[in-house]
Amino acid sequence: MGSKLFTAGLVLALGAGCAFSAIAQVKPEVLVDQRIAAMRLQGKYLFPLVPMAQGKAPYDAAMVARNAGYLDVLIRLAWDGFDPGTQGVKSRALPEIYAEPAKFKAAQETMFTEMNKFVAAARSSNEANAKAGIGDVLKACNGCHDTFRQKAQ
Ligand code: HEC
Repeated sequence: MGSKLFTAGLVLALGAGCAFSAIAQVKPEVLVDQRIAAMRLQGKYLFPLVPMAQGKAPYDAAMVARNAGYLDVLIRLAWDGFDPGTQGVKSRALPEIYAEPAKFKAAQETMFTEMNKFVAAARSSNEANAKAGIGDVLKACNGCHDTFRQKAQ
């Protein structure tokens, strides 16, 4: 009896969930907040590795491997937040993103390619390649920022 009620509740909840996601319209302000949060998390896990790659901080293989794993997921999260419907919301995203979508996409692909190389090097504890990979990933981040992100005031 109890379990029947539970099942019924679950079915209702799942049904409600489906109906909700089918009609959900995420607000543009929320999309902008989320894509910026994703960008900040990318920075959180990449930037501490940069001094290691430059030999300015001791190389911490365990941290590099952990952060590489996080970044491999994080770098995929921001993109669906760059919806044309967000253009009215104040942010540092430049209009070129929507004027040149293929170029914006190519900048993402470049980063994915560099990240794949970095993750492989970090997983196989190849310190020299991982250090080079950190620099190449950062270059891919900045390559997009130079074209598609408004300079900080
Ligand atoms: C394909 C383009 C692209 C790539 C690649 C990219 N970014 Fe960004 N990034 C942007 C854009 C556009 C913004 C501005 C977003 C906004 O204001 O809505 C941004 C914003 C940021 C911000 C500022 C967030 C804030 O506080 O306002 C940080 C930090 C950041 N990116 C880090 C990174 C890092 C680290 C990488 C590489 C791992 C990266 N980004 C890769 C396009 C890119």
